[in-house]
Amino acid sequence: DKGNHRHFMAKEIYEQPETISHTLSHYVDMGAERVALRETLPFDFSDLSRLTVSACGTAYFAGAVAKYWFERYARLPVDIDVASEFRYREPPLEKGGLSLFISQSGETADTLAALRYCASQGQHVASLVNTLESTIARESGVVFPILCGPEIGVASTKALTAQLTALASLAIAAGRARGVLSVDREAELVRALVELPAAVSAALGAEGQIMDIAKRLSKAKDVLYLGRGPMFPIAMEGALKLKEISYIHAEGYAAGELKHGPIALVDEAMPVIVVAPSDELVDKTLSNMQEVAARGGKIILITDAEGAATVGHGVADVIVIPHVHNFVAPILATIPVQLLAYHTAVFMGTDVDQPRNLAKSVTVE
Ligand code: M6R
Repeated sequence: DKGNHRHFMAKEIYEQPETISHTLSHYVDMGAERVALRETLPFDFSDLSRLTVSACGTAYFAGAVAKYWFERYARLPVDIDVASEFRYREPPLEKGGLSLFISQSGETADTLAALRYCASQGQHVASLVNTLESTIARESGVVFPILCGPEIGVASTKALTAQLTALASLAIAAGRARGVLSVDREAELVRALVELPAAVSAALGAEGQIMDIAKRLSKAKDVLYLGRGPMFPIAMEGALKLKEISYIHAEGYAAGELKHGPIALVDEAMPVIVVAPSDELVDKTLSNMQEVAARGGKIILITDAEGAATVGHGVADVIVIPHVHNFVAPILATIPVQLLAYHTAVFMGTDVDQPRNLAKSVTVE
């Protein structure tokens, strides 16, 4: 049932304040301001020297954001790869290490093959899934549910924010176990998570402005998305979402890589979407953005009020999202990239929920 929405994708985008709250209620003890895992861990975070993550598509981008979190807040090195590469690379793995697989459906063939490889190498196998009665869940030593309810749209939306919410909680649990996070620091990060659903509701309010921008975006042939740090995977997610449902060619790039090639593409016809809420790296990203502006590129900046205040000339549009703690900013920044892709596809009249050539779950390699 789509409720009042035209598409399942729209319904699922709008459900996110509730789905994120639901995921949080599983992982977080709000009163105590701490993460309280209900799952029994067959490993100890403090014994690990590395976390190995594999996934595909949007689930891979969730893992790519989590790499920043585990490294920063738990000082745990993370190796991440798309499952289709990982499985054939057959990388050496330390016995007793931890491998984590992220899959909404729990049935993705490459992710399952990567899991079986890791299990055969004596790794602890953990998975983050939405469908608990799935093959990946069944074959895992520990299953972390994301609890966002069935996702019908082929383009993943609420599953991503639920994956990120659960991964953020796991990174906090790891940080505490490894002696990196103090009680106060954990409480600060948990509060940031708890404040997220209200910020997501506010970010959904930019829809009118986003529809205007999407109308112009629907005329583009190519779109470049830029981000730095944890916003880099969000830039890639924005590009994937746009490709999937509008069939417009898009690429997500690390902002610092611009000069190393893609800047040659920039002209008046190419929209460049910069994902840059204010954080310690924002000035660097904004200076990359000015290089695009100087070459006539049409910039659409996604930032918060603080970021917007420092923007100079040459920015066509600024989408302002609420200011939140840096920790949860990548989760919030997914909202405008989802809405941009959705409304662009609606303008183009594509089959948003069932885009051509795509299946909801990719059970063959
Ligand atoms: O079910 P999974 O999370 O394993 O699926 C992974 C990808 O196939 C999936 O995220 C795909 O990229 C989506 N269509 C993205 O919107």
